[in-house]
Amino acid sequence: MLFSVLASVALGCFLLEGVAAVPSQLDPIVRLNSDLSSKKAATSCFPSLNFTMPSSVPSSLDNWWCSMSTEYAFVGFSYEVTACQSLSALKKDFLDIKKTFEGRYVRLYGACDRKGFYDDIVNAAWQAGIGVHALIWFGWEDPNIWKTRRDTLLASLHSNPKAKFVTRALQFGSEPLYDYALSASDLTKQINKAKANLSSLQIPVTVSEMPYGYQERAGDGSQNVLNAIDIIDAHVLPFFSTEATFGSKSWSIVKEYINYFIDNGNGKKIYLSQNGWPSTTYPGVEPNSPSAVADVKNEQDYFKLLDHNCAYFKTAGGGGIGWFAHIYSDNQEPGYGIYGTNGKLKFPFSPQISC
Ligand SMILES: *[C@@H]1O[C@H](CO)[C@@H](O)[C@H](O)[C@H]1NC(C)=O
Ligand SMILES: *[C@@H]1O[C@H](CO)[C@@H](O)[C@H](O)[C@H]1NC(C)=O
Repeated sequence: MLFSVLASVALGCFLLEGVAAVPSQLDPIVRLNSDLSSKKAATSCFPSLNFTMPSSVPSSLDNWWCSMSTEYAFVGFSYEVTACQSLSALKKDFLDIKKTFEGRYVRLYGACDRKGFYDDIVNAAWQAGIGVHALIWFGWEDPNIWKTRRDTLLASLHSNPKAKFVTRALQFGSEPLYDYALSASDLTKQINKAKANLSSLQIPVTVSEMPYGYQERAGDGSQNVLNAIDIIDAHVLPFFSTEATFGSKSWSIVKEYINYFIDNGNGKKIYLSQNGWPSTTYPGVEPNSPSAVADVKNEQDYFKLLDHNCAYFKTAGGGGIGWFAHIYSDNQEPGYGIYGTNGKLKFPFSPQISC
């Protein structure tokens, strides 16, 4: 869960890079012949920026979600919920994510065990028109609390009629392999059970984990986990690499991490769910390279680097790779925020969402 004590990250170097086809545009003749409304139906989808939320809950998911191949480059923020934000705070933040940054998603991080909390997430996401990567958080305190969280979340996904329209993925996390929260085979079983539970809602199931978590558990069957998940939520935190220097100089490390998932992920869609560079160090967030620099400039330069490589993210992996910025605010996780604890942006942040 905490990605801090990442001791040795001696990862292999992979040369192959998957390049997936970008979906073709609608046939021009079809476009010309279609009337305005059907054209609108064909081009507008949740959670694209130009989508207008319906006034009532649709009867089916047909043509609801945007193709995952349009979800590349910047897709949104990791958003920590340990503070158990009120519904109004969630609404305000989610709208800000959509309007200020053109974010299409939040990826939840941490846990809030308040009754009805996920309903608040769903309502706030619905109002803002953004999607959610929901999370079953393991945590350290109680080795069994994740089971209660799992059951609560699954039940809410079924009972809240809006939930399946905003929940893009269910994650087990964070870093359950790296943290030895479950054995690889128990985690695989849990993924398969969750997939069966959610099949009628068409919600993909994944694990939020770094390459190193899979690599260190390879002998324990971590490939079965990769085979079982529907999509890949990858942790990319190059600051902790033994090779780390500056945010702007981390592209080869980023590619190495991503290539692990391209090479072992069977062409599945990849999102960088926990992805960033801290602006400060403190116990628990310390580099493994003496040359790694943590400051606001390097945090900013890291995201600039990703933004600069938009064309790579458009075509890489299983139909483009989307990246989340970790994390929305320093109030949620010190040093990683786009906003400081004073509520002001730490640096200008407006990454491209298409290119
Ligand atoms: C709306 O956004 C989607 C996804 O970003 C895009 O594919 C589509 O062309 C846009 N439609 C219009 C009418 O601008
Ligand atoms: C999914 O799991 C939840 C929580 O355990 C349960 O309440 C619900 O009945 C299950 N639904 C299906 C379709 O398996």
